[in-house]
Amino acid sequence: MAITNDTEIKIADDIFWIGGDDRTAAVFEGAFPIPEGVSYNSYLISDEKTCLLDTCDASIAAKFWKNFRHAIDGRSLDYFVINHMEPDHGAGIIQILDSYPEVTVVGNSKTFDMLYNFYGIVPKNKLEVKEGDTLCLGKHTLRFIFAVMVHWPEVMFSYDETDKILFSADAFGTFKTLSGALYADETDFDKEYLNEARRYYSNIVGKYGSKVQAVFGKLAGTPIDMICPLHGPIWRTDLGYILGKYDTWSRYEPEENGVVIAYASMYGNTAAVADRLAMLLKDRGVENITVYDVTRTHPSYVVSDAFRFSNIVLAAPTYNNSLHPTMVAVLDDMEVMAVQNRKFSIIGNGSWAPQSPRIMEDRLLGMKDMEKVGEPFIIKSSMKPEQMPELEKLADEIAASL
Ligand code: FEO
Repeated sequence: MAITNDTEIKIADDIFWIGGDDRTAAVFEGAFPIPEGVSYNSYLISDEKTCLLDTCDASIAAKFWKNFRHAIDGRSLDYFVINHMEPDHGAGIIQILDSYPEVTVVGNSKTFDMLYNFYGIVPKNKLEVKEGDTLCLGKHTLRFIFAVMVHWPEVMFSYDETDKILFSADAFGTFKTLSGALYADETDFDKEYLNEARRYYSNIVGKYGSKVQAVFGKLAGTPIDMICPLHGPIWRTDLGYILGKYDTWSRYEPEENGVVIAYASMYGNTAAVADRLAMLLKDRGVENITVYDVTRTHPSYVVSDAFRFSNIVLAAPTYNNSLHPTMVAVLDDMEVMAVQNRKFSIIGNGSWAPQSPRIMEDRLLGMKDMEKVGEPFIIKSSMKPEQMPELEKLADEIAASL
């Protein structure tokens, strides 16, 4: 179904998508580049009772309000479920409560704490739910499944027991706008979205893998026909695909054998070694290789491919008797997002006192279940021809480890 982008879209009996695309923001959460934009989804159930699930980001507030008003079609709003309090879904909260002062706000105790902390709001009518509580809207009954720390403490999923729809908050969402396709099955998801879905997961949720696994445990045995996340396309077919990706990512298992090579280089000498290694690996039959210059690539892309691939190669010069700052930023993000269970190799450079190999190795070994492949390949200022056999040996060892 194509999106008209000027009104709501019916996704099931009585249920409407009322979201929109943002192509204006350069970064998400003030941190992550979103060159392909991002979408914000919210949903309205128009049953015997009306129920709004979450609102939107300020960037699409006008569109959300227009869609919402059209979908509710003059009825009053009975319930307002807040599955997630992060402000990229909260820009409509005040307007909703001002327009519908009698609405019952549905959340958990942490939701209401955050509602006050962010907006100074104590709703006139509130329904504080606990794990497993249900809310009957008429034909549809919502069951609330807490998804604590996926990726905030108040997060909960709302499960429509009638149509077997999971309103999953941020989970199963992605960066990148919808651009006409509301459903994942209207896209070539592998080609169009997977990289951005992984970058979203690994950088927003990545460190909370055990919490994702806990929610999977709660969902076991629950039939799901549709997943409605707060970002990105809706899933109505092949749900096992995205559930499987989340299972793999949250277990910190590599999606595929392959190598991400991330390098910092001041004058091109470290970059030359990284590029040469990539070619040697390709010669040895390694199919999946990505190479990033971290002096111009945001760490979120490296973290994402660290979740994707089995092997990581970091290459960087020594700087101020330490490590080049752009590689420090990459390692900081890898640590924060709990990259683990990977094989790694090191390329270091130091013109008079090469410190970078030891620093990178120590930090990578400090992450959980990391295995070093080969010895650090170290150059002094530039690689010399006589070092080629050593680099080939490293390539052999990496290829053999896949
Ligand atoms: Fe899309 Fe955690 O907010």
